[in-house]
Parts: sequence; structure tokens; C-alpha cells
Amino acid sequence: MRDAAIVTGVAVAVAGAEIAAVGPQHELERSYHDATRVDCGGRVLAPGFVDSHTHAIFGRPRFEEQELRASGLDYMEIARRGGGIHASVRDLRARSEDELSVMARGRLQRLAAYGVTTVEVKSGYGLTPEDELKSLRVIRRLAAVLPMRLVPTWLGAHEIPHEYRELPEGRSEYVHLLVSTMLPGVASEGLALFADVFCEPGVFTIDETRTILTAARSAGLGLKLHADELRPSGGAELAAEIGATSADHLAAISESGIRVLAESNTVATLLPGTMLFLGKDKQAPARALIDAGGAVALATDFNPGTSPTTNFPLIMTLGVSQLRLSVAEAFIAGTVNGAAALSLADRVGQIAPGFSADLALFDAADAREVPYWYGDQRCVGSWAKGRVCHPHTVELH
Ligand code: NIG
Ligand code: FE
Repeated sequence: MRDAAIVTGVAVAVAGAEIAAVGPQHELERSYHDATRVDCGGRVLAPGFVDSHTHAIFGRPRFEEQELRASGLDYMEIARRGGGIHASVRDLRARSEDELSVMARGRLQRLAAYGVTTVEVKSGYGLTPEDELKSLRVIRRLAAVLPMRLVPTWLGAHEIPHEYRELPEGRSEYVHLLVSTMLPGVASEGLALFADVFCEPGVFTIDETRTILTAARSAGLGLKLHADELRPSGGAELAAEIGATSADHLAAISESGIRVLAESNTVATLLPGTMLFLGKDKQAPARALIDAGGAVALATDFNPGTSPTTNFPLIMTLGVSQLRLSVAEAFIAGTVNGAAALSLADRVGQIAPGFSADLALFDAADAREVPYWYGDQRCVGSWAKGRVCHPHTVELH
């Protein structure tokens, strides 16, 4: 992860949706003399960021919960009182696909404005077959009109909905609904590439998570877990056991979880913005994971409850200052390893011939400035598959 090559004086040639060549500027100018030229002004050009964990399909924001937490109410306590995910579920169920598309579109464009060109987007605020399909159809619709690459994930197991929590056998009935009705519907319409489960004490247990993800794997989906976010429960170990593509959060991962995950092919996706916004003084043990040989990705966890930010470079800042990554490690975590967390590492996340032409340009002379100007908007252009994602907004000179 330390091996992020930073080179100067180079140009990038793009043909169609792919990178054709990377090399000294004068050489590429000769070989591609009739190409359209974009002058990057000697600034930092990075692979477009890969935000491999978002919950971007939601309705109204939940700003009222921030003050409740400040006054001492815990995230899980707010959820028990009907706020949290349940509040977003009530809201999303009442909205149409059109309405949700308009809302999500603006939010995804904000991500692009911060240099993100690939975004994983989860459902998970519907929790009925119809409302989960509605959410995933919004993602499919936006994938067809936006230049960014969207990766859809089915998160029907985000929470046990209220109407099931009240029933004596509600938990098992909801797990049955997920596996027997929702999953086949999602798979038959080809609406998701991954399945995810919020595996956490008080939400889905280890056994329920194993049941849901085993069924998802049989249906042809890749696997992800929200694992060991608030309390250690063996989520990381389960992720490695079932061969999940990524295990996400991990702020409360156990020692054995670190070891098992680092030895596996599962990417550890860390979401430092969430812990910051929830006011927790704990962060995932990124150094221990990397030093043990694990692959760490960084993502926003963009969602209305625990991480309402689209500012990917800010997550890189937290990666360096809170998780103690080097700048090279933070870039790898936000590009190459984010792509690996979406099974896209052979095509996405690198500026190299044959890779997708996904690029982000920053108003910075040194790559270290990207995490340094924290909270700042330094991205002055982004391109996905060779198409403009976020137009040049600053005159380059
Ligand atoms: O990743 N942990 C579960 N899901 C989200 C939070 C969703 C919400 O609060 O709306 C997360 O933090
Ligand atoms: Fe999440």
C-alpha cells in the first residue's frame, strides 16, 4: 500500500473510455498530436476516487439526530426510539422512484465534484420487496444517465423493520422474506452486484448474516458486510470465512478479526467519517490491519444518519490524521483498494494503459496537499470512462 507512484512531467492519453498511454508529455504530444488537449496546468492528476460504500438513496436528511447525540443519546438508543434507520425507512417508503432519482442525482454529482468517479450505492431504506426494488431501480436509472460508474448493492438486511420487530417470530420471518422473496426479485431483475448485511449486536446476528449472505452468494451476488462497527461480534471473522469481497467499518474489530482478515482476500473498508460524525473516540485499527498484511480501503459511508458527507478528500484527511496512513496509503485506499472492494481492480483505480479513463484533477502542486487542505474543495475536474463528470470550474494557467 506504500507503493503509490507519484510521477511528474507526464501526460495521459485517453482513447474512448480507456487510458491509452501514460508517458513523458513531449512524447505523448508527438504520438497523439491530433488529440483534444486538456491542460492540467502542472497540477495533481489522480485516479478518480472509488467510493466503495455509500447509502446515497434516501429522502430527507436526519439533521435532528445530531443534537440528540450531542445531548447524550447514543446512535443505537435513537434507533430504538424509532429514529435512525427506521426514520429514513418511513420517509423513503412514501416517496416515488422519480422523486428519489432527483434527490440522489444531486448527491452523486456532489461526490463527482470532489473527485469520485466510481460509487457503490446501497439500497436499505425500503425494507419491503417493493421499496427495495424501487431503490435499486433508482440506481439503475441513474447509472444510465450519469457518466460516473455506479455499483448497486442490495442491503435489504439493513435493519429489522418495525412491523416485524413487533411480531414474536418477526426476526426469523423477516430473514425468510429477505432470502425467499426479496433476494430472488433483486436477482431476477439483475438489479444488484453485491449483497450487504448490517451485522451488529441489536441488528442482524452472525448466524442471520451467514444465512442471508450464503443465499446471496448462491444467487450470484458478491458479498459485503457492515461488520464490527460499534461492538465486536465476529463480523470480520465471518467475512473472511464466507469469502466476502469486503468487510466494512471495523472500528470495534477484535485481535483475531484483524489477523483473520489480514490473511484473507477480503478488503477492510474503513469509514472514519462515520466515527467522527457520531462523536465516537474510537477509529478502526488501520495500522494494525495494514501492518498485518491486510488491504485497506477508505470510503465516505455517505448516508443521512451517520455520515452525511460527499467530501471524499476529507475522508483521506481522516485516513492520514486519524487512521495514521501515509499519503500514499490513503491514495491507494481511495483508488486501487476501493476498486478491489468492488471487484473492479483489474479495470479501475489506476492511471495505466487499459484502465478505465477515470481521472480527478486537483488544484494542488503536490499530492500531499489533497489530504492537507482539509474540508476544502480542490477538485477542479473529474472524468469517468473518458467523459466529463465534473466540469473544469477553475481557469487553469
Ligand atoms: O453504515 N451502520 C449501518 N448503516 C449506516 C447508517 C445508516 C443510518 O443511520 O441511516 C452506516 O453507518
Ligand atoms: Fe454503511
